[in-house]
Amino acid sequence: MGLFITFEGGEGCGKSTQAKMLWKKLCQQNIPAILTHEPGGTILGAEISKSLKRRRESSVSPEAELFLFAASRAQLITEVVRPALKKGRTVICDRFSYSTVAYQGCGRGLSLNMIELVNDFATQGLKPDLVILLDLLPQEGLARKRELMDRFELEELSFHCRVREGYLKAAAADPDQWLVIDASLPRRRIAEIMWEKVSQLLPDLSS
Ligand code: TMP
Repeated sequence: MGLFITFEGGEGCGKSTQAKMLWKKLCQQNIPAILTHEPGGTILGAEISKSLKRRRESSVSPEAELFLFAASRAQLITEVVRPALKKGRTVICDRFSYSTVAYQGCGRGLSLNMIELVNDFATQGLKPDLVILLDLLPQEGLARKRELMDRFELEELSFHCRVREGYLKAAAADPDQWLVIDASLPRRRIAEIMWEKVSQLLPDLSS
């Protein structure tokens, strides 16, 4: 099985940039790797993503939101993540199940037990080998955005603060699985810290 690495963080934390940089670095080292993201990464996921992020639309209940993210995740796992891991590829995923814990659980206030059940079902129990959290004050992250576009970015600051707290709590509960990086550091420094950790986990590089 390949290595499964996921990126997490609040709005504007720079995780998509870092996920791409890590994927490029792996490719440069001739390590077979794929980069994917949530919500999306499949045709079904892209359709779900559009309806979830749309700015103006009929309202989406927190419960419906949970199942839509889970549906996108279930499809991604079956269609993309598991087959790639089976082939021994490293899979980098920009957001995964902890986004649901942080956003729908801590942000929206849905039951964390229910979220764990739904996540487990959607992922078929698959857990990342490493979760990289790019931690940033929500005010700073939101200020990095030129325009607040989707339903999540437009949430009030207290929502984003709960999301951040949720991430930090999850990371503190399992420090072996999580790598928390200060996202206010320069991009290159963040990439170095990440690489230090990832290279230890890659059998070809650590030996
Ligand atoms: P992004 O493409 O900017 O990361 O946007 C995805 C948005 O969806 C982001 O605001 C976080 C949110 N989200 C959830 O609320 N729950 C989830 O499970 C996932 C994957 C994303």
